[in-house]
Amino acid sequence: MTWMHRTLAAVTLTALALPLAAHADPCKVEISGNDVMQYDKKELAVPATCREITVTLHHAGKQPREAMGHDWVLVKTADLAAVAQAGIGAGLANNYLARGDKRVLAHTSVIGGGETTSVTFSAALLTKGGDYSYLCTFPGHSALMHGKFKFASS
Ligand code: CO
Repeated sequence: MTWMHRTLAAVTLTALALPLAAHADPCKVEISGNDVMQYDKKELAVPATCREITVTLHHAGKQPREAMGHDWVLVKTADLAAVAQAGIGAGLANNYLARGDKRVLAHTSVIGGGETTSVTFSAALLTKGGDYSYLCTFPGHSALMHGKFKFASS
């Protein structure tokens, strides 16, 4: 085996290991929505040691965003209902979020069936052990589409 061959073998192993490492990152979490107005998870949790958090949202359904759009919006639990209400009038072009709504801590765009989106945000926005929730702000969805977001000791 030449030096070049050994180097190529090492590079190949590194490339294979990277997706596994990314999947294991506890600061990156995933959630899906479907065509019957549901998220697949009632809770997401990341350790309070995370400095940056990435949430990836999949839409596992087939309906277009205009009919069954989903987003992922992070708020303090106490603000959930007010943020959902304020977003109704904002329209799809604004991802059903009132412009400049300071109660919105992080959010994705609204997606339709078969699409995926993600948001990365600084954990400096969050307090360890705080009471946070996520919701879909598409009109009428938040009653079913919401869950707890835990930022705590792992
Ligand atoms: Co939705």
